[in-house]
Amino acid sequence: MSLKVVKVETKVYDGQKPGTSGLRKAVKVFQQVHYTENFVQCILSALGKDCAGSTLVVGGDGRYFGKDAVDKIIKIAAGNGVSKLLIGQNGILSTPAVSCLIRKYKTTGGIVLTASHNPGGPDNDFGIKFNCSNGGPAPDAVTDEIFALTKKITTYSTVPDLKCAIDKIGVQTFEVEGKTFTVEIIDSVSDYLELMKEIFDFGALKKLLQGGFKVLIDSMNGVTGPYVQRIFVQELGAPADNTVRTTPLEDFGGHHPDPNLTYAADLVKSVASGTYDFGAAFDGDGDRNMILGRKAFFVTPSDSLAVLAAHLDCIPYFKKTGVKGYARSMPTGAAVDRVAAATKKEFFEVPTGWKYFGNLMDAGRLSLCGEESFGTGSDHIREKDGIWAALAWLSVIAHTGKSVEDTLMAHWAVYGRNFFTRYDYENCAADPCNEMIKKLEELVASPTFPGTKYSNGGKTYVVKAGDNYSYVDPIDKSAASKQGIRVLFEDGSRLIFRLSGTGSSGATVRMYVDSYESDKSKHSADAQDILKPLVEIALELSKLKEFTGRQEPTVIT
Ligand code: G6P
Ligand code: ZN
Repeated sequence: MSLKVVKVETKVYDGQKPGTSGLRKAVKVFQQVHYTENFVQCILSALGKDCAGSTLVVGGDGRYFGKDAVDKIIKIAAGNGVSKLLIGQNGILSTPAVSCLIRKYKTTGGIVLTASHNPGGPDNDFGIKFNCSNGGPAPDAVTDEIFALTKKITTYSTVPDLKCAIDKIGVQTFEVEGKTFTVEIIDSVSDYLELMKEIFDFGALKKLLQGGFKVLIDSMNGVTGPYVQRIFVQELGAPADNTVRTTPLEDFGGHHPDPNLTYAADLVKSVASGTYDFGAAFDGDGDRNMILGRKAFFVTPSDSLAVLAAHLDCIPYFKKTGVKGYARSMPTGAAVDRVAAATKKEFFEVPTGWKYFGNLMDAGRLSLCGEESFGTGSDHIREKDGIWAALAWLSVIAHTGKSVEDTLMAHWAVYGRNFFTRYDYENCAADPCNEMIKKLEELVASPTFPGTKYSNGGKTYVVKAGDNYSYVDPIDKSAASKQGIRVLFEDGSRLIFRLSGTGSSGATVRMYVDSYESDKSKHSADAQDILKPLVEIALELSKLKEFTGRQEPTVIT
């Protein structure tokens, strides 16, 4: 039976502007009549002539509304002449797995259904993100085009009678107005596992995990559960009780599936007991990671990046490809800069958002990169990759025989330590926050700002420069402006203020504090103690408490 394409009349929804990582809103927003359909249609329309006959990957973190969205995407893809969809079984694919699949099967792109680390469930968040043929999040030019289309959409094309079972692995074909439309439901883990086996020495990792080195891996009831089971338990032979919360839940068990000291407090507590040598947690869609050593020794993401940068020789993949260069996002602590300088590799600083690393990787200039927001990854795919980061750390440990803490101490002894912290003020009223950024912009732009002295707790910092960060991509020369207020001090310390681009309601203020210390005797100090004077200065110069009405941050990392 040939299925019919139906053009459905729709109306424009305001505010379908993709943020740092796609369109992220409350589930209830996506459930509005035609809301999801509009956005999916605009993604496909933005592909222009590349849409007809294309293959796309579809999958997500299994959160509430994911299956409904997959069903809508199948129908709208069929209605727009897409020739094939590769879909993870039950709609489950981690974000890194989507990137892996797009690259491996050379598809036109992929649609990722996730709101990443935001809570899930009927009263929480959902998200839709488009990734391009390089496997990475769509760059600004593409998301701008999608947004422009959302502002003038009048109809979308769909095949309402198409019924596809997404729980059965295998190929299903349909005839849509005389043309074949194929849906292939694939195992969610296999291709990703195969890639990990190419990158890492699974023999060495197995020896480590079976040789008494105890890990505790927390999937936070997100998408990485099945990946962790297959990789850590089945392949590497870790005891099953060394993995927790490995069943993906639509609401992540009611938690924030965000691997940091606040939201992964249970993992921190378990590892603090001293039973485990290593702890790792991943976010809802599997691209973020948190690494802990024995007794919950915390590795900041900025340090994690720097340590991996200094140890890439422990990972077979980089022996094959060579190390091309390093990069971090602007607010990320500057520890990796020192490794790049010492190893004479190219180094890049980019705005917040993984999409900014893609061009550099595609041009063969970037091997390893990371962000303070618990993202670490390499050019094996075009997304950050939580499980990859844990395997990378375990490779370093297997190779050097050092504990996590000793690895950090040795690293700081060579390079010095960048103390780093981030304060988040979540869900504030938007207007005063915008006003605060405006005021800060005026302050840092003032000609008298350089030279200003700020003192607190017996320390004085002298302003060297300040700006609202802007970036020009070295490859395609595309520009991004207003990416965050920077206050740069004479001694290299930095304060950064920006509004999150991943929240779904209100405004989240992020304040980042980065300060370098070469004195070895201070390296084991607590970052919060060392950074306290600078934090006070940051609060004072931004008048953050007045603007947000908040005395304390929601999360400190
Ligand atoms: C996501 C993006 C990252 C980004 C992070 C924080 O995880 O993939 O690239 O660093 O969100 O973004 P935000 O705009 O909320 O600070
Ligand atoms: Zn994520």
